[in-house]
Amino acid sequence: MTPALHKLLRAHYHDLKGYVSAGMEVEKDETRIFMNANENPYMLPGLEGLSRYPEPQPPALLEAYARAYGVEADQIVMTRGADEAIAVLVKLFCEPHKDAILICPPTFGIYGVDARSMPAGVVEVPLLKQDGTFTLDTDGIVQAVKNAANGIKIVFLCSPNNPTGTSFDHEGISVLCEKLEGEAVVVLDETYAEFSQAGSMCADLASTPNLIILRTLSKSYALAGMRMGCFICGDTDFIHLARTKALEAYPLPRTSIEAAFHALSPEISAIVHENIRKILAERNRLEKALQESAQVVHIYPSDANFLLVKMKDATGFHAFAAQNNMILRDFSDKPGTENCLRISIGTPEENERLLELLQAFS
Ligand SMILES: Cc1ncc(COP(=O)(O)O)c(C=O)c1O
Repeated sequence: MTPALHKLLRAHYHDLKGYVSAGMEVEKDETRIFMNANENPYMLPGLEGLSRYPEPQPPALLEAYARAYGVEADQIVMTRGADEAIAVLVKLFCEPHKDAILICPPTFGIYGVDARSMPAGVVEVPLLKQDGTFTLDTDGIVQAVKNAANGIKIVFLCSPNNPTGTSFDHEGISVLCEKLEGEAVVVLDETYAEFSQAGSMCADLASTPNLIILRTLSKSYALAGMRMGCFICGDTDFIHLARTKALEAYPLPRTSIEAAFHALSPEISAIVHENIRKILAERNRLEKALQESAQVVHIYPSDANFLLVKMKDATGFHAFAAQNNMILRDFSDKPGTENCLRISIGTPEENERLLELLQAFS
């Protein structure tokens, strides 16, 4: 393992013996009789193939992820959504009652929740508001890591960021990783990368030892219901350790494995890319149309499949939309997003309905 991660990993993980499940001991094939995992020999009609435990990290699916993200299969840990990847990384690096993570609000809430549940500390270095958009306070982040009383083990960055939609400059993130090497891991959440002009930093993983990237099939691949995501890191020893010591015995449901495999096939991937194009075209159309509304104060530039919209009365419109069967997300009570709604881009018809409701509310 590279010194950058070796030093930051919770010490007991180095010697911990991971669980060896029955499925890990021998390869499953249909020519043999398996009586080693207390599985049920009677498959149910319509549920064939589900009576056996799934492979923990199926190699063919790792290869498919690797092709999709332009990395190597041995750089990936597949998890139940990016959500599980976040929890696993917090568990691997943060010593309870001692360490901390750093977040840049307004951002995705799970980082803080997972840290507090350890419990680990949460240090906030808010995004800066500049010219109607948000930027990373990279100097503030470096200062906070250097000055922290408790060790800040993970700096969570989200690009494009939820809920603001902002992408952060890759060059700036690279410099930040370099400055923090040996002090903190940078976990870059690229949940929305496929929608983004900025693209991914996966190509930087090989040269950036303290960078870990989160990806998911939930958004661009429309598989939120299947809970398939991953984390990726250039340090293959770290990846091996995480797979064998930090995951549950059978982390991925068989149906989810199959769905992910299908979604990543060339045929379905082509549809995925066409859908991304449609969503982005709709985002641009919706943004223009929203700008015409007297209710809308500002729309933050978005590099994702949603818009953060500052309104005259966000909470009022949120309630009005809900009364009319349209559910939006109100961020009014969060610092930095006062009077803001986050609106996911829907189909053209759904977006039209939103505009009608806004007109009716005005
Ligand atoms: C920034 C960010 N990270 C992670 C997730 C969780 O994604 P998944 O569905 O892969 O668990 C979300 C979901 O909304 C998100 O917005």
